[in-house]
Amino acid sequence: MRNYYIAGNWKMNMTASEARDFAEDLVEELKNASVKLMIAPPYTALESVSSIVRGTNILLGAQNMCNKESGAYTGEVSPDMLLDLDVSVVILGHSERRIIYGETDELINEKIKLALDKGLEIVFCIGETLEERESDKVEQVVRTQVTKGLDGIPESNLDKITIAYEPVWAIGTGKTATPDDANQVHAFTRSLVSDLYSDEAAQQMVIQYGGSVKPDNVRELMSQKDIDGALVGGAALKIDSFRAIALFSK
Ligand code: PGA
Repeated sequence: MRNYYIAGNWKMNMTASEARDFAEDLVEELKNASVKLMIAPPYTALESVSSIVRGTNILLGAQNMCNKESGAYTGEVSPDMLLDLDVSVVILGHSERRIIYGETDELINEKIKLALDKGLEIVFCIGETLEERESDKVEQVVRTQVTKGLDGIPESNLDKITIAYEPVWAIGTGKTATPDDANQVHAFTRSLVSDLYSDEAAQQMVIQYGGSVKPDNVRELMSQKDIDGALVGGAALKIDSFRAIALFSK
């Protein structure tokens, strides 16, 4: 049985003090949630949020991580630095990292392997652009991203990995994939995991949907057979909307 998993990606929003206040409210509002919960503040707010969510039902996530352990990598943040702040989850392969900052499937694969070595959980993002969708390349893109991203990762590590399907054209645009369209790609992604590993691994894999998830579309999305949660951007920045999403089943 897969558990619903709702995560908030705050992106480049909130100072450390704003984040602390926001996290305090979230902890209070979400203490009775029955789903798995994670929030990913910006790096500079991890320390302040860490002390607020410690011991609660909200996991602390980072939005990215370096593919190296330490050394001369100006501007980067290592897995040990994250672990030291009680970060337990890292988002890797987000389309904004892929598209704006040129992260490749190979780099993302290195990051996933290092994160796993360090005992971090991963939200591994995949998804096609509008151009790719319009030229009927959704399956091809998803296949490449999943196959390369998970290259060399043993089945025994898959319980640490959540896949987030985020069609790029739906991120921050107000456009959501229809629940049916999204579910089709989720089912395809699950079949890929089955091909690469086993049917059991595929059935256990939690696959989140991301891209303009809002209180008014969350229920329908979550009712789809292969959609197991949400990675939420814009709507994670308001208490009311993130609460409504996290408590969608109540
Ligand atoms: P959005 O972002 O909810 O603002 O569309 C989702 C994401 O990028 O993870």
